[in-house]
Amino acid sequence: MKKGKRVLVVGSGGREHALAWALARAAEVERVYVAPGNGGTTWPPSPEAPDLQPRAPARSVPIRPDDIQTLIDFAREQAIDLTVVGPETPLAHGIVDAFQAAGLRIFGPTRAAARIETSKAFAKALMRACGVPTPDYAVFHRFEEARAYLRAHPGPVVVKASGLAGGKGAFVCDTTEEAEEALHRLMRERIFGEAGDTVVIEERLYGSELSMLALSDGRMVKPLLPARDHKRLMDGDRGPNTGGMGAYAPVPEVGPDAVERVVQQIMMPVLDALARQGTPFVGVLYAGLMWTASGPFVLEFNARFGDPEAQAILPLLETDGLEALEACLEGRLEDLSLRWRPGACVTVVLASPGYPGPVPEGLPISGLEDAAAQEGVLVFHAGTRREGAQLVTAGGRVLAVSAIGPDLPGAAARAYAAVERIHFEGMSFRRDIGRVPVRSL
Ligand SMILES: Nc1ncnc2c1ncn2[C@@H]1O[C@H](COP(=O)(O)OP(=O)(O)O)[C@@H](O)[C@H]1O
Ligand SMILES: [Mg+2]
Repeated sequence: MKKGKRVLVVGSGGREHALAWALARAAEVERVYVAPGNGGTTWPPSPEAPDLQPRAPARSVPIRPDDIQTLIDFAREQAIDLTVVGPETPLAHGIVDAFQAAGLRIFGPTRAAARIETSKAFAKALMRACGVPTPDYAVFHRFEEARAYLRAHPGPVVVKASGLAGGKGAFVCDTTEEAEEALHRLMRERIFGEAGDTVVIEERLYGSELSMLALSDGRMVKPLLPARDHKRLMDGDRGPNTGGMGAYAPVPEVGPDAVERVVQQIMMPVLDALARQGTPFVGVLYAGLMWTASGPFVLEFNARFGDPEAQAILPLLETDGLEALEACLEGRLEDLSLRWRPGACVTVVLASPGYPGPVPEGLPISGLEDAAAQEGVLVFHAGTRREGAQLVTAGGRVLAVSAIGPDLPGAAARAYAAVERIHFEGMSFRRDIGRVPVRSL
């Protein structure tokens, strides 16, 4: 019998749990490791894997995502066949280049291709050069020049750190005063260090936000289901920004024509441009879009799966996850057909008290088995760890409760019924994920 494949997932959040789950269901996968993983990324094999259960076992291994050399050593020792990168930081540090140089297989873009995410100034210039719709903008390296620009261009703008700022580097401003304040914090106080030494000031757009993710083999893309995430802490998109409080997929108002338009007008021109520069993009290309009265505009690109979008998209993927990723690496995405379960998936994030500020750790969590036993429900761990037999909180976003249902309201009903069974002190979550009326684009 052919030896099964071993897969290593890099990262520790709900996204990585969802990736590990999807890969542990792939036909050829024998074992999954998650580095460093969390309290939910270790499980036994389940040969008879009933619906939605992973078949292959998984185990957390205590290696940090940016400890690239130790990850390479581990991949060699354990004869890992494929490494999959969850978060952006290791991509920015060149994990893909380093694995490739070591002769190891890894899914994700090289450091140069990942600039589409790690430098908003680079992404903007690329989009402008290839005619991809994106808000008008200017780039600055000096505070005084940026401030002068703001004063000469009154009106609503968005001020963004060009570099990686953990999803907190964009300031949506109503007034010039607010924009100057944001500029001050980025360029003078340097709250994100060198990530804010270059800023992008862009026109503020109004419309409907949406995430379009696609698998890319460097030459073409296969779009995943359109998704919508919810960055604000409170219902109705109020309160501070977070890493993401929930998501759903697909987005009912985004039909096949809209998806095709995004592929043709946005994804393909960017992919072609990166290939022409000699830095083809292989991995997940994620376009954060604002759909306005005149169509879709790109607010940003990410070079990886979104969190929590992955927890809403991957449960619906019917195609073998390993086959899909391997098709990207082997440049044969053209032959891959992505199949999806019918219906929708809603993901509700359960956060620690105080999130997105400082949070306590070690709060005991109860009710998970009961929640996970509900029909169509998957509980992905994010900030959890095991203390003996007890599962406790270990971060701001603690769990991502996903539920598949016949449609969006059905999936939301199941997700919230499962959420009600889970408890930890001060648990907070949004109550409106997937419960909004369908809008038009
Ligand atoms: N030009 C824009 N007009 C309106 N809202 C914007 C604009 N750019 C960003 N935003 C808002 O700010 C959020 C964060 O911006 P984004 O560019 O995605 O940066 P990041 O995810 O790195 O923080 C977006 O999800 C969107 O809600
Ligand atoms: Mg974003």
